[in-house]
Amino acid sequence: MAGMDAITIRPARPADAGAIARLDVDTWRTTYAGVLSTDYLVGLSPRRREIGWRMAIQRDPLDIRVAVDGADAVRGFGSCGPSRSERRFPGEVFTLYVAPDWQDRGIGRRLLTALFRRLTATGLDAAIVWVLRDNPARFFYERLGGRMVSHRRIPVGGRMVEALAYGWPDLPAYLAAMRSEDRGPS
Ligand SMILES: CC(C)(COP(=O)(O)OP(=O)(O)OC[C@H]1O[C@@H](n2cnc3c(N)ncnc32)[C@H](O)[C@@H]1OP(=O)(O)O)[C@@H](O)C(=O)NCCC(=O)NCCS
Repeated sequence: MAGMDAITIRPARPADAGAIARLDVDTWRTTYAGVLSTDYLVGLSPRRREIGWRMAIQRDPLDIRVAVDGADAVRGFGSCGPSRSERRFPGEVFTLYVAPDWQDRGIGRRLLTALFRRLTATGLDAAIVWVLRDNPARFFYERLGGRMVSHRRIPVGGRMVEALAYGWPDLPAYLAAMRSEDRGPS
């Protein structure tokens, strides 16, 4: 694994669609086992998702970022764009997944930062993320400064599940604070 650990974050390419779809389906299955119905999880189709991801990448590759290792294998990805829900938060992070073996190394944070930068670059200065209440990933968003701003029940795989929204009301301020944190104490 030496040398393979160096992770780069870059915009997605159409050729990444298959790897993104596999990671997408794998993460759903591991994250939501016991939360969503087994039938629904088993029925998820990487092939169908690949088509969707390829279309999304072709529409706007800059809205989808991948974390690749030294061999250009996709180890994480995230997507963002104009919000589908809250008016107070015009930007939204739609998905953010890091492969289980690659979690807890700062990749999620780097992906989220890249998506926040993308949102501000397109004039969307506040962001929201929806996450299922039973998903422990929500503590990641709390750790990264998100504040719970909304909740609602949503249909997923034929079941109603509770979803929570985390918000960042001022992305430029958040990113600036993060940059000064990166520089360390002076
Ligand atoms: C949530 C997820 C994206 C985080 O990515 P990651 O690369 O493991 O996270 P990072 O290593 O960048 O963690 C950044 C910080 O958050 C903390 N953190 C990460 N996951 C956490 C969790 N589940 N609970 C609490 N803290 C968490 C880390 O400890 C780290 O803290 P630090 O600043 O003290 O070092 C990743 O675990 C994942 O893909 N999970 C499953 C998929 C999922 O449910 N995604 C969200 C649905 S939209």
